[in-house]
Amino acid sequence: MIGPGGSDHLRPFGGSGRDRPTIVRGEGASLFGADGRRYVDLGATHGVGNLGACPPDVVRAVQRQAAELLYLGSGYPVPARDAFLARLGALLPPTLDRIFLSNSGTEAVEAAIKIARSATGRPRVVAAMRGFHGRTFGSLSATWRKELRAPFEPLLPGFVHVPFNDVAALEAAVDGSTALILLEPVQGEGGVHVADEGYLRAARAVTERTGALLAFDEVQTGVARTGRLFAFERWGIVPDLLLLAKSLAGGVPIGATVTTAEVESRFRGTHHSTFGGNPLACAAGDAALAAVARDRLWERAERLGAIAHERLAALPPERVREVRGLGLLIGVELRERVAPLLERLEARGFLALPAGSTVLRLLPPLVIEESDLRAGLEAIEAEIGRG
Ligand SMILES: Cc1ncc(COP(=O)(O)O)c(C=O)c1O
Repeated sequence: MIGPGGSDHLRPFGGSGRDRPTIVRGEGASLFGADGRRYVDLGATHGVGNLGACPPDVVRAVQRQAAELLYLGSGYPVPARDAFLARLGALLPPTLDRIFLSNSGTEAVEAAIKIARSATGRPRVVAAMRGFHGRTFGSLSATWRKELRAPFEPLLPGFVHVPFNDVAALEAAVDGSTALILLEPVQGEGGVHVADEGYLRAARAVTERTGALLAFDEVQTGVARTGRLFAFERWGIVPDLLLLAKSLAGGVPIGATVTTAEVESRFRGTHHSTFGGNPLACAAGDAALAAVARDRLWERAERLGAIAHERLAALPPERVREVRGLGLLIGVELRERVAPLLERLEARGFLALPAGSTVLRLLPPLVIEESDLRAGLEAIEAEIGRG
């Protein structure tokens, strides 16, 4: 050992500059600071907490599984994985019957890129401007924002970005060298932009015409967030690859790349993750999906989302440019920077998120009490109404 570094020695790499309250405990949409103060989660769990903090069924399943079998490599069947896959499979369209399990959203995207390139034998990936898919090299290559990409270039070759919701530009970008079209049904990080139905239909049609694959990145929109279990259900457009993560296991790290047997039959090579499909995450995922389905949380997202949307749409137009979203994934585009508003909301006990520099993003747990949501909306009205 070279020498002790001291209690203040090791800090998170690239941590945010601003002092934030230390959060020590959570229950539902309530997060409790070290000083005992209660905060309402309007986005602090980054879309992971669809079931709220510490969902009781997930906590019990994790405790049970941890005591039984914490880890086993994916080469051996385990009951927790079998149960999770059976439950998820029953909630998916019948064509989506193959799954690769990993540990995060970015890994779900990486797997999709590898699968698409290998299965089609083609190099190109078409993604959307304002899209966000993660921060490892493949997913970052599909991500749009220049400031996220530039320090790490060169990224992967063969990626192009087209304007979101522009059918002609999409059709012009896809040809016989395209392996994959990668889209978020609602762009989350990029400012909460909802895809037009016609755009998604055109994406489906052009991939069928050219032999490219279509992937929906539902890392943020999945698991009841947008008022359907998966956002694509709203339009009945089934992709070749469905990418899930965030709240899929109720708060335990997980990623999933779901595809078809037909795509699998064309896949050459191997792909693997040591922790992917581990029993702990699968037990959590099984319990989380059971709770989502039992409580029909997509209906709650739709109902509470409508309440929030109506209230936010009445904010003064001289401060607010537009309110967008689906279900409980909501963006309020301001005519000013969002950072000061987020600080003022935090001081009032509400933890929300930005999406870019001018969009307030609300991503509350779907189990949030209606009274907490209304109190959050009142706080936003009080702040934005102030000149
Ligand atoms: C749509 C989308 N894809 C991928 C990711 C990356 O997920 P992770 O941070 O788990 O790697 C995110 C994260 O916010 C996301 O919103």
